[in-house]
Amino acid sequence: MFKIDNIELSKAILLAPMEDVTDISFRLVCRELGADIVYTEFVNSEGLVRANAKTHQKLKIIEEERPVGIQIYGANIKSMVGAAKIAEAENPDLIDINAGCWVKGVVGCGAGSGLLKNPSYMQELVKAVVYSTSLPVTVKTRLGWDENSIQILDVAKRMEDAGAVALTVHCRTRKVGHSGDADWSWIPKVKEVVKIPVFLNGNVLTAHDVKRAFDETGADGIMIARGAIGNPWIFKEAKELLSTGIITTVVDEEMRIQTCLKHLKLAVKVKGEKRGVLEHRKFYAGYQRGMYGAARIRSELMKLTEYNPVEDALLKYLDSLKQEVVSV
Ligand SMILES: Cc1cc2nc3c(=O)[nH]c(=O)nc-3n(C[C@H](O)[C@H](O)[C@H](O)COP(=O)(O)O)c2cc1C
Repeated sequence: MFKIDNIELSKAILLAPMEDVTDISFRLVCRELGADIVYTEFVNSEGLVRANAKTHQKLKIIEEERPVGIQIYGANIKSMVGAAKIAEAENPDLIDINAGCWVKGVVGCGAGSGLLKNPSYMQELVKAVVYSTSLPVTVKTRLGWDENSIQILDVAKRMEDAGAVALTVHCRTRKVGHSGDADWSWIPKVKEVVKIPVFLNGNVLTAHDVKRAFDETGADGIMIARGAIGNPWIFKEAKELLSTGIITTVVDEEMRIQTCLKHLKLAVKVKGEKRGVLEHRKFYAGYQRGMYGAARIRSELMKLTEYNPVEDALLKYLDSLKQEVVSV
């Protein structure tokens, strides 16, 4: 058992920050299905300090999703401190610093995994943010810049010294982006050099992966990103597996479609009908993975811009699937 501020956790399973994915609606779905902490997508510190309304919108959280962390990114210490204060005003449970984003535009400004190029500066930045807020501050980073510069053990110690209360390690280097295997073998080594909780991230795609990651590495928590898209039951299944040794949740077509609709309904409530429906299009493929005739229904859904027609189409599709089963 460990604590982050007043959040008590043991074998935590966390929803990773994902740009354009982990908005309030998806965070709520994952929380309800067992995610212990959820995170906003990364929010640009420069946009926040310049009072960009679109950037500020990304900070919005609601009570029902707690515990929730706001993730901020940037390379300039003054802006990151300013952003942390602005984020704190939204009253999240914690602030996470992104030191892992691999995207050129972010890294080119020295932010995200660009910070790994200068660990002592990264330490200074994290320390300044920690001092600027009364909220717990966590850091999400990678093993290193490339295979020849893996410096996670030094970075982990620096993050702990800077006052971070937990560290997420995406077990890949910046160079490989999101591709290839994640090297979980670094997690036990990181745990040896720091006392703060260490969360493993990278290539955790099923509930069985969650169990294997805990068993093989002794991580304090497992953070799931792509494995939760179209598959938010992964949290519930993993908890069942960890506590009883078997998965009892049955993810059938009814569950897939009803969850997809619930997610959409929440999105419409938060963002308004048109935006909610349009932005939900990217989730259909995930929710309908492996379902008979999914491509055809998806092309129909892509034309719709209102909730009711989407619901009608999906329920009709579900009915047709049930009839297939009856007639077989
Ligand atoms: C669509 C997408 C958006 C992402 N956005 C963020 C982000 O905003 N902040 C962040 O720290 N990582 C972001 N990531 C990286 C993930 O949090 C995670 O570190 C990475 O996908 C590896 O985990 P996985 O193998 O479980 O997917 C993003 C990943 C994806 C696929």
